[in-house]
Amino acid sequence: MRAPLNRVLVVVPTYNEKDNLRPIAARLFAAVPTAHLLVVDDGSPDGTGRIADEMAAADDRVHVLHRTEKAGLGAAYIAGFAWAKEQGYDVVVEMDADGSHSPEQLPRLLAALEHADLVLGSRWVAGGKVVNWPRSREILSRGGNAYARTMLRLPLMDATGGYRAYRREVLDSLPLNEVASQGYCFQVDLAWQTWKAGWEVVEVPITFVEREHGESKMSRSIVLEALWRVTWWGLRTGRSRGARPTHPAA
Ligand code: GDD
Ligand code: MN
Repeated sequence: MRAPLNRVLVVVPTYNEKDNLRPIAARLFAAVPTAHLLVVDDGSPDGTGRIADEMAAADDRVHVLHRTEKAGLGAAYIAGFAWAKEQGYDVVVEMDADGSHSPEQLPRLLAALEHADLVLGSRWVAGGKVVNWPRSREILSRGGNAYARTMLRLPLMDATGGYRAYRREVLDSLPLNEVASQGYCFQVDLAWQTWKAGWEVVEVPITFVEREHGESKMSRSIVLEALWRVTWWGLRTGRSRGARPTHPAA
């Protein structure tokens, strides 16, 4: 039997998302009124952190972590996860601030988590979609996922995606202090570690809508980090998948 999923924390990392934060929070609370929101802001020059503070002052469900410098999505999530563990949430959700991850689809992720340990919102399973992405971004995402599948023998269609829900026990079991991934390869890193540890990972289709306001932080260095790390993990671990460990929650 898995533990009940009462307290849900949605962690949203932000860097220059001033036009996106209030609308995404409003949509989140409309979709899942009992959820809490943790904004992890890396000292956004555009004042996103101040907006988050105003939101927190007006709504008990909103919390803010201020970090002093832009240190990447991975580091922001690690800080958010540590806070979530301290506060004793049962479920920790990753969601982008820019509207690409529809809060209206969160109930679907949470429902799937009743029977899983990690639920990935997936663009590349049947029923999944991407709206308004340039062809180059689709090729990068599909290619990156194919590479991770091959190198890591990871049986997932969208291990790079950033809309997902973890059971607290999963985060408790992972050595989060040792996670070195800074950029978007953090997503592959954690999906892989979760799967390797024997936890049940399930993908549910989502519709990813490209942002209308602000800019993506995707960069060449983020792609290169993912490429070298996945290559290194794959070579170090060998190409065989090995015996799957027994389910720790069983
Ligand atoms: N605190 C903090 N620090 N937040 C950051 C940083 C950072 O260094 N970099 C990005 N973010 C925040 C953004 O403000 C946004 O809320 C979220 O992380 C996603 O950033 P985007 O720049 O919008 O990402 P994307 O749309 O290019 O990429 C999305 O898809 C990728 C897979 O294709 C994200 O969901 C990625 O996680 C995902 O790997
Ligand atoms: Mn985005």
